[in-house]
Amino acid sequence: MSNKKNEESWDHLSEFYQTHKKISLENVHYGPFGPGEKELRVIGDVEGLDVLELGCGGGQNSIVLAKWGAKSVTALDQSKKQLEYAKKLAKSQGVKIRFLKGNMEDLFMLDDASFDLIVSSHAMNYVEDLPRVFSEVARVLRKNGRIVTCMGHPIMHLLWEALEEGSIDKVNNYFDEKRKIWDWQDEKGAKIATFEDTAYRFEEIINGIISVGLTIERVLEPPGYTEAQIEKLGENKVPYQDTDYDNEAIHRFININQKIPFSLIVSAIKSK
Ligand SMILES: C[S@@+](CC[C@H](N)C(=O)[O-])C[C@H]1O[C@@H](n2cnc3c(N)ncnc32)[C@H](O)[C@@H]1O
Repeated sequence: MSNKKNEESWDHLSEFYQTHKKISLENVHYGPFGPGEKELRVIGDVEGLDVLELGCGGGQNSIVLAKWGAKSVTALDQSKKQLEYAKKLAKSQGVKIRFLKGNMEDLFMLDDASFDLIVSSHAMNYVEDLPRVFSEVARVLRKNGRIVTCMGHPIMHLLWEALEEGSIDKVNNYFDEKRKIWDWQDEKGAKIATFEDTAYRFEEIINGIISVGLTIERVLEPPGYTEAQIEKLGENKVPYQDTDYDNEAIHRFININQKIPFSLIVSAIKSK
């Protein structure tokens, strides 16, 4: 398995993913069935900023940032199919975004100090070399520029399977640094595509950001919404949902996300 395989798998999964997920075009999301930027206020005002999204997928977060007044938005992903979807969506939303195909581990096509804000949502766990990504982030950020990255929470990687299957034997080894190979399944459990990712530990994420000279401003580990909150908020206020809300697996997800955080959000600034 390699990065190339993940790229092919995202090409393969893209159509299924984009038809089964309901991702907001009015709020930046930080993962499924949880609060978004309007609620958490991590990114703040983007008016006049040059923004880069890493691992933009279908482009929803980039589209929102463009609607919120960013001066320019550049959105990078390595999957051709995800980018095709994103380009059509941006056009239909009437926003201008520069889409780039590439691997976020090597941003050779981007100049030093060319962005005020970098965002990334649930894409960095797929990379093989996270320190390299952070070093590229530090390079392309301007002075006082900020990164807001949202990754799979290390506790989630450790405990999710155990909580889902009700078995302590399924607790993973926190110190196991191996890349994990796993299948994306449809609602009936049939395999659609195989991925490889890393359950990056706290110290790898936090020290990785510090070691490239960035100053951490905030760390957030929000619980997901409860079913009652989701129903009260209604269709359009939950920034990342699933079309298959009645599926039992979704309700298990929502319940587990009350006990442990799914996402770890880190905001850091290039102060020097
Ligand atoms: C779970 S999707 C998230 C997409 C989007 N950020 C969202 O929240 O809807 C992960 C995305 O990261 C992209 N990706 C994974 N590894 C990447 C890499 N090394 N460089 C660029 N994109 C990558 C995938 O192609 C995929 O579109």
